[in-house]
Amino acid sequence: MKDLFRRKPIDQLVDHTAPNRLRPSLSAWHLVLLGVGAIVGTGIYTLVGVGAERAGPAVILSFAIAGGVCAFAALAYAELATMMPASGSAYTYSYAAMGELIAWIIGWALILEYSVVCSAVAVGWSGYAVGFLSGLGVELPAALVGGPASGGLINVPAILIVAAVTGMLLIGTRESANVNSILVVVKIVALAIFVALALPAFNAANFEPFSPYGFAAHVDADGADRGVMSAAAIIFFAFYGFDAVSTAAEETKDPGRNLSIGIIGSMVVCTLIYMTVASAAVGAMPFRDFAASGEPLAHILRTLGPDKSAALIAAAAVVALPTVILAFMYGQSRIFFVMARDGLLPHQLGRVHEKSGAPVAMTIITGVVCALIAGVLPLATIAELANAGTLAAFVATSVALMILRVREPNRERPFKTPFAFIVAPAAILGCLYLFFSLPSVTQTRFFIWMGVGLVVYFVFSRGSSRLAGRA
Ligand code: ALA
Repeated sequence: MKDLFRRKPIDQLVDHTAPNRLRPSLSAWHLVLLGVGAIVGTGIYTLVGVGAERAGPAVILSFAIAGGVCAFAALAYAELATMMPASGSAYTYSYAAMGELIAWIIGWALILEYSVVCSAVAVGWSGYAVGFLSGLGVELPAALVGGPASGGLINVPAILIVAAVTGMLLIGTRESANVNSILVVVKIVALAIFVALALPAFNAANFEPFSPYGFAAHVDADGADRGVMSAAAIIFFAFYGFDAVSTAAEETKDPGRNLSIGIIGSMVVCTLIYMTVASAAVGAMPFRDFAASGEPLAHILRTLGPDKSAALIAAAAVVALPTVILAFMYGQSRIFFVMARDGLLPHQLGRVHEKSGAPVAMTIITGVVCALIAGVLPLATIAELANAGTLAAFVATSVALMILRVREPNRERPFKTPFAFIVAPAAILGCLYLFFSLPSVTQTRFFIWMGVGLVVYFVFSRGSSRLAGRA
């Protein structure tokens, strides 16, 4: 039994001379862009409509709630990422603080966050790409642009974009980060143009009544999920991504300084952008008129004025949403890499390419899994499942923060979370409230996934762990 709680020594985690380490090559600038690249995506471009449908104009409040919870969690991530600048994110923090079984469970939950989120964004991207091509007169057959649940056969564009991003990662971190930087700028400029064009149409009457469906998550008589918290539970998708920065810890130059800037900086920048875009959207048009649209921002602009600006937003989404996939797939391949290095996944998979520094086998496996999910499943299902996994990881990170404050009070902390024993419990309660505001079918799917993870642990990982025999 004791082996279930064997912990990874923190000194070993931060020892950069151990064999099979990733090469430090990323600066603070790369990290902020990696963060913004991961955060701003399908959430603001597409799910803002779903949020408005669930909460009405009070979707602004849903943004504030989800953003607030993420801000607390971001502070916990910043402390742990700088204290243990090693790849693996919440998995690694849990291994050091709570032992192997919890670490495995969180690593398993992180697959939902990192892989499933890539699939969700790929499906969202496919929607924009198909619409954009249609505007150019290129019509793709319905069977090839959606999975069975959406009335198609397979989502080919979603599979292709996952394949393209996997290829970029195989070329190497630095190159991918540079391409990423340019695309992040495109994405932000497009949102700025949206706000500039939507603000002149601002009408305060669109905010009345502010909260037509009330606060708590509930299922309405028509079977729809409603309420400010129900919207917050899906809008949460739009906010995470800052933790993808912490997965780059092992490859960061001067991690104490650069990771704090990367995680907190990208979080603050994105929250401000979101509040502005959501307010501009709700102000420009009654929420029911854009809530059901698969491309709400483009829809609003198209209704307001000349078609060109809507096409511009669509083009920006098509060009730039892949940055989100890039950041998460990067994170996932690194988490798998660390789990393989720890022996919880087969060792052979942890090998790093000599020239590019990328964990090749893991990157390819991640790409194939993401492509398969994106090829067949619908967007809402995937996004909500990704949220459930992410919330579990945020809770684990906040718990790990408090445990390590007590157990290792004197260890060097380049960034110290202020009021840690208020911030961490607030993050935990906020995440639990968001989790239980998700549809019950999502919660059930999450627990089934975790059950499968436990079976894998006891059948394979427990015996093959590098810590086996040393507990
Ligand atoms: N935050 C990311 C997005 O909105 C996952 O697409």
